[in-house]
Amino acid sequence: MSAPIIEIRDVSKTYDASDAARPALADFSLEVAAGEALAVLGPSGSGKSTLLNLIAGLDRPDRGVVRIAGTPVHELGEAALAGYRRERIGMVFQFFNLLDDLTVEDNVLIPAQLAGTGRVEARERANELLTRLGIARFARAYPGTLSGGQRQRVAVARALMNNPPLLLADEPTGALDSESAAEVRELLGALVAEGRTLVLVTHDTGLAAQCATRIIELVDGRLARDVRNTPLAVAR
Ligand SMILES: Nc1ncnc2c1ncn2[C@@H]1O[C@H](COP(=O)(O)OP(=O)(O)OP(=O)(O)O)[C@@H](O)[C@H]1O
Ligand SMILES: [Mg+2]
Repeated sequence: MSAPIIEIRDVSKTYDASDAARPALADFSLEVAAGEALAVLGPSGSGKSTLLNLIAGLDRPDRGVVRIAGTPVHELGEAALAGYRRERIGMVFQFFNLLDDLTVEDNVLIPAQLAGTGRVEARERANELLTRLGIARFARAYPGTLSGGQRQRVAVARALMNNPPLLLADEPTGALDSESAAEVRELLGALVAEGRTLVLVTHDTGLAAQCATRIIELVDGRLARDVRNTPLAVAR
């Protein structure tokens, strides 16, 4: 078997330095294989976003190992972390994090520009992604004129721009009306069906059931449940 794409070993993270502070993650270990779609459930404050931020290299563990696609993320300095995030991670957020004064196409082009991809090649890839995600007609529109579901599709296109081995999403349907949420569930399900490795933090159990191949639950920074799931999008 190939090495896991996510290898987290004995990780602890406490935000407050005082002795009384509760750890956000406590002696946490997790392995995820390439092609798995992991949904992370758990009550508010259980450490879900902390876990995602450690994987994304947006935060550091107090101790333990965070190895992603062979990269020892816990050991990297700031410059190497920026490169890691640019090349290895695509990230989707609850509130899209699009730049409202750039067009849809220019938003999607940002990761390619940061990576130094040539303009022609980058635009080709952007247009291909926008077409695949069904939003090519909005290429020259501004994000503010789009529905929530359409905006989240733009965010997914941006996340896929540099074709990262790992896609992370924190509450991608959390700010959407039910119709838009269904749209985003369908899109993520399709990405999982084509074998994308995905980590999905969510309160949306419907999203987990539809898209995940594995569901874990955190309680107080610890693993409380770890089960296999047959995603609906694949079963169909
Ligand atoms: N930047 C921070 N500074 C201080 N404490 C933090 C910070 N981020 C998270 N915490 C604390 O760490 C714990 C875990 O928070 P985390 O954001 O990972 O939870 P979560 O499971 O994502 O919750 P939610 O479902 O509300 O998003 C909580 O007790 C939270 O208050
Ligand atoms: Mg959170």
